Amino acid sequence: MCTKKVILVTCAFPYSNGPIHLGHLLEHIQADIWVRYRKMQGENIFFISSDDSHGAPIMIRAKKLKMDPIKMIQEIHKEHKEDFSRFSIVHDFYDSTHHSENKKLSQKLYLLLKRNGYIKNKVIFQLYDVENKLFLPDRFVKGSCPQCKSKDQYGDNCEVCGAIYNSIELIQPYSIFSKSPLKIKKTKHMFFDLSYFQKDILNWINRVPISRSVKKKSIEWILQGLKDWDITRDNPYFGFKIPEEKKKYFYVWLDATVGYIAASQNLFRKRKIDFENFWKKDSEDLLFQFIGKDIMYFHTLFWTAILEGIEYRKPNNIFVHGHLIIDGKKMSKSKKNFITAKSYLNNFNSDHLRYYYASKLSSKLNDINFNLSDFVNKINSEIVNKIVNLASRNASFIKKHFDNELSEQLDSSIIYQKFVMESKNIKKLFLSLNFCSVVRRVSFLADVANKYVESRSPWKIDHKLEHRRLHKICSTGINLFKILMTYLSPILPKLAEKSAKFLNYPFHTRWNSIEYPLLNHRINDFEHLIKKIENNKRL
Ligand code: 2FM
Ligand code: ZN
Repeated sequence: MCTKKVILVTCAFPYSNGPIHLGHLLEHIQADIWVRYRKMQGENIFFISSDDSHGAPIMIRAKKLKMDPIKMIQEIHKEHKEDFSRFSIVHDFYDSTHHSENKKLSQKLYLLLKRNGYIKNKVIFQLYDVENKLFLPDRFVKGSCPQCKSKDQYGDNCEVCGAIYNSIELIQPYSIFSKSPLKIKKTKHMFFDLSYFQKDILNWINRVPISRSVKKKSIEWILQGLKDWDITRDNPYFGFKIPEEKKKYFYVWLDATVGYIAASQNLFRKRKIDFENFWKKDSEDLLFQFIGKDIMYFHTLFWTAILEGIEYRKPNNIFVHGHLIIDGKKMSKSKKNFITAKSYLNNFNSDHLRYYYASKLSSKLNDINFNLSDFVNKINSEIVNKIVNLASRNASFIKKHFDNELSEQLDSSIIYQKFVMESKNIKKLFLSLNFCSVVRRVSFLADVANKYVESRSPWKIDHKLEHRRLHKICSTGINLFKILMTYLSPILPKLAEKSAKFLNYPFHTRWNSIEYPLLNHRINDFEHLIKKIENNKRL
C-alpha cells in the first residue's frame, strides 16, 4: 500500500446547461498543469471535477428544449468530458452532481447539520409566477428599480443607480421568460446558520497560505456580518429533495459543494483510498481547490462553514484566478466573443492555448486577457521558432551523418549541467503557480541553447574532418531540447508526447530524466512537431 500523502485537487464544477468555453478551460488547464507537474515528481495526487447538474437555469433550459432534464444533463456530461480531454485535461474522475451517492451524502450531511442545530426555519416572501406556478430566483425576474424607478432591472440590483435590493421590492415585477406579472407569496425556507461559524472561518483563513487578496476579501465579508444562507428552493426545481420537508429542494450550491465530497468518494473507491482518513478533521492528506474569483464567497465562507459543521477537514488552500477577458471585453454571447472549446479547435491546437494561458497565469487574481495577435506571435516566436527549431536544426545533422545515433559524450557538459541546475528554480515556480515565470525562464533557456548552437555553427563544420566534434555538438543540442521539453511537458503534453517519440525515450513522464543525457542512443526521424499559426486564422 502507498504510504505517501493523498493529494486531492478539485476544479469548480461547470453547469450542465451549456458547452465548455475558454473560461472553463482557463481554470481546468491551470489545475491540470499543476497536477501534471506534481505527478511527474511521483506524488500521489488526484484531480477531480464534475458537472454541476442542478438548479433553475438547467430546469428552464430543458423545458425550452422540450427535453427531459436528465437526458439533457447526460448529453452535456458526455460533451464536457470530450471537450476536456481534447485539451489534454486529465481528471482522475469527472462526476455529475446528479447521482444517488451525492443525493445520499447531501441528505445525510444536511440532517447532521440539522441535528447539530445549524439549520433554522424562516418564513420568507418571494416572487411567484402564478401562471407557471413557479417561484422565481432573482436573475429570472425584472421590474422597475425601487430607488431610481429605472425600468427592466434584475431582481438583485439596479444597473442604472447601483441600488441593491430584495426582489420583492421591485416595482411591477415580471418573469423574464413568460413576461407575466409576478405576485409576492410566502414560503417556508431552511437556512444554514453561517454566522455561527464566523470564528472557525477566520481561524482557517489565518491558518492556510491563501493569497493575500483572497484573505483580505473574505475577512471584509466577515466583518460586514454574515447572513444566514438560504439553502432551500421550492417545487418545481431540478435537484434533491430536502429530507423531513414537503416539496422543498436543496439550493444547487448545497449539493454542488457536497459534490466535491461525493466525487472524491467515487474516486477513492476506485483507487482504494481511505475516505474517512482523507476527510477526517485532523487529516494529514491534502486538499487543494481551484476556483474563479466570482465564486470565492461560496468557497471561503459557505463551504468551509459546512465542513466545520459536519466536522470534516478543510482545504489546505483555495487557489483563486481572475476572469478570462477577450480583447479587453468580458466574454459573452451578446458581444459575439463567446468562444467554446469546440469552436477554438476548428482553427487552433490545444497545446497552443495551454501555453498561452500558462504564459499569463500566476498566483494572482488579475484578469487574463486573450488577444489573438499576441497569441499567434507568442506561439510562433517561442514554441515554433525557438524550441522546436532547436530540435529540428540538430536532428537534420544527426540523421544525415550519424544515422540518427547520438554521440557517446556531450560537447559541453557545462551547458547541460547549467540547464539541469535550473530545475530547482522551475520546480518552485510550478509549485507556487507562477507558470508565467516558468514560460519566461524556459524561453530564456531556449535562447541560450540556440546561441550555443550558433556559436558552434554545425553547418560550417566539415563532417569528414571533424566528425566527432560535429556529432557531440548536435547531440548536445538535442539533449538541451530534451531538458526544455521536460520543463514544458506539464504545459504542452501533446508536444511532449511527440517529442518523446522523436527522441525514442519517454523523458516526459519523470522530471528526474533531466539528470541523464541521452548518449549512445538512437532517436527517430524528426517529423513536424508543431506547425506555425498562419496569420489569417480567426477565433
Ligand atoms: O459557478 C459555477 O459555475 C458553479 N457551477 C461552480 C460550482 S463549484 C462546486 F461547488 F461545485
Ligand atoms: Zn435604480
